[in-house]
Amino acid sequence: MASLRGGFHALSWANQLLYRRRPSWKCASCKIAPPATVRSLRQYATTSTSEGTPKSKPYYVTTPIFYVNAAPHIGHLYTMVLADVLKRWRTLIGDHDAQLLTGTDEHGMKIQQAAKAAGIDTQAFCDKNCQTFKDLADAAEMDYNHFIRTTDPAHKEAVQYFWDMLQHRGYIYTSKHEGWYSVSDETFYPQSQVHLSLDPATGRKRMVSIETGKEVEWSSETNYHFRLSAFKDRLLELYENDFITPSIYKDVVVNSVSSGLSDLSISRPVERLSWGIPVPNDSSQTIYVWLDALVNYLTKARYPFPPGEGSRYGWPADVHVVGKDIIRFHCVYWPAFLMALDLPLPLNVLVHGHWTMNKEKMSKSTGNVVNPFFAIDRFGVDVMRFHMAFRGGIGSDSDYDNSYIIRDYKKHLQQGIGNIAHRTIGCAKGRLRKYIINATTGKKHAQASDLAYEETLKKLAPIVADKMEKLDPRAAIMEIVRVVSETNKYFHNAEPWKNPAEHQRVLFNTAESMRIVGILLQPFMPNKAKEILDLFQVHPSKRGFSSAGYASDPDYGEDIQKKILFPPLIVEE
Ligand code: ME8
Ligand code: MG
Repeated sequence: MASLRGGFHALSWANQLLYRRRPSWKCASCKIAPPATVRSLRQYATTSTSEGTPKSKPYYVTTPIFYVNAAPHIGHLYTMVLADVLKRWRTLIGDHDAQLLTGTDEHGMKIQQAAKAAGIDTQAFCDKNCQTFKDLADAAEMDYNHFIRTTDPAHKEAVQYFWDMLQHRGYIYTSKHEGWYSVSDETFYPQSQVHLSLDPATGRKRMVSIETGKEVEWSSETNYHFRLSAFKDRLLELYENDFITPSIYKDVVVNSVSSGLSDLSISRPVERLSWGIPVPNDSSQTIYVWLDALVNYLTKARYPFPPGEGSRYGWPADVHVVGKDIIRFHCVYWPAFLMALDLPLPLNVLVHGHWTMNKEKMSKSTGNVVNPFFAIDRFGVDVMRFHMAFRGGIGSDSDYDNSYIIRDYKKHLQQGIGNIAHRTIGCAKGRLRKYIINATTGKKHAQASDLAYEETLKKLAPIVADKMEKLDPRAAIMEIVRVVSETNKYFHNAEPWKNPAEHQRVLFNTAESMRIVGILLQPFMPNKAKEILDLFQVHPSKRGFSSAGYASDPDYGEDIQKKILFPPLIVEE
């Protein structure tokens, strides 16, 4: 009989994952993709460590920086979890240098007005609300490396330097600007993108953005402009290279950019906006909050860095995770700003859909929000992380409802993983270790159903890796859940409880499912995954991705004590 160990070279394969990168970098100044050899050199942008050994650019993932005008909600938790899963995935595959950045966006009209309405000093208002976002990042167990605030002095320096460089290269000019400004969206809209609408709360007619429904006000002022229109062709070329994931959002951006780009107003007169970073050498103007905010991703990479040195600190970012509401800022303005300065472009923008309440976008300004702290308290952080990743829409929106959380908990966690772990351990009655030894030394014969199931287990890690490489954590966790459900069926049909000694291979296989699933769930549910791996006595050194191959760890399963992994939820609906 063929050994169970055959055909899986996990370690070399984990290394391949680690060093494979997405080929979307383009030389900003010559506008064409460099030849493969140059590209790979640039992408792996080697720098020297203090020991003098070459080191690849740290993997770098970001969340948007969140406005501190109001408290965070489930939508913010979702973005945090997605970005954190990507970061923790890197750690799982052996990359211990991966960087995750999150933080808060504290300048602009919206914050200025919110602080005024609250009757609090603006900086004190920011300090207080920033802390709530930090608390959420901690409650969500985000493994972030840095929490940035746009009021940090280092950020102000980076933004002013960035401005100076844009000006120095001739991309900034002054001109009169007239248009509709939305304070809530912190952006101007052209006439074609606004319409009159009745406010149901007041019965008043007001002008709103067609896209977001937020009120706009007419503004006519002289300010600084960025020559965005100069970048149309280069942007369109960029989108051809997997810059935007998933591709449905790419189509939206391509359509919008193809239909023409106007130059962008990038400052406001200080009488209107004083809460922000002053334009260098012109204290009558304040830098537009989106230019200020986007530069945060560079600030973390210690911008201004000498040309070519950014890679040492992670630049360019590997992936910016953003909601679809801010796609234009990240996929049009941001790459154009970077192109203007010949800075390397981020490799990917991962765009996700929105959490809705009764099909309407959950939003701070609408007020239809779910408090993420309450949700975490009620269901536990791992269950919420699971729910966010499993049900959250990347290419679509998702409606939020507690009953879905409870349903998925029961079906996939309690009656899925919990049940399999419990019954496997129960059937083996303390002999699991012996069954593992027998199975891995090939002493027990296999039925066709065992072999078919083993194929499923063998494929799981490569499939999950492929989904994660494609920046699709939802598809990855769905694969894990699918295997959990197949394991339940396999166990049920094989009936090992009737004669455990005769079904050693079945019990070994279901134990393997728990070990492999436990390893692969670590980025999603770090605490529960640890509990699963602890329960099966998997050695801490064998919890990396390279151990997620079928039958690749013969050393676990000693002295297992039964434990309830997923207890009944205390609060039922
Ligand atoms: O836009 N569903 O900050 P913001 C899913 N400061 N995700 C949601 C969501 C929902 N209903 N609502 C918000 C800003 N989000 C700027 C960003 S970045 C340089 C500056 C998430 O507080 C989603 O990631 O309005 C969205 O893009 C982000 O929060 C917007 O947060
Ligand atoms: Mg918003």
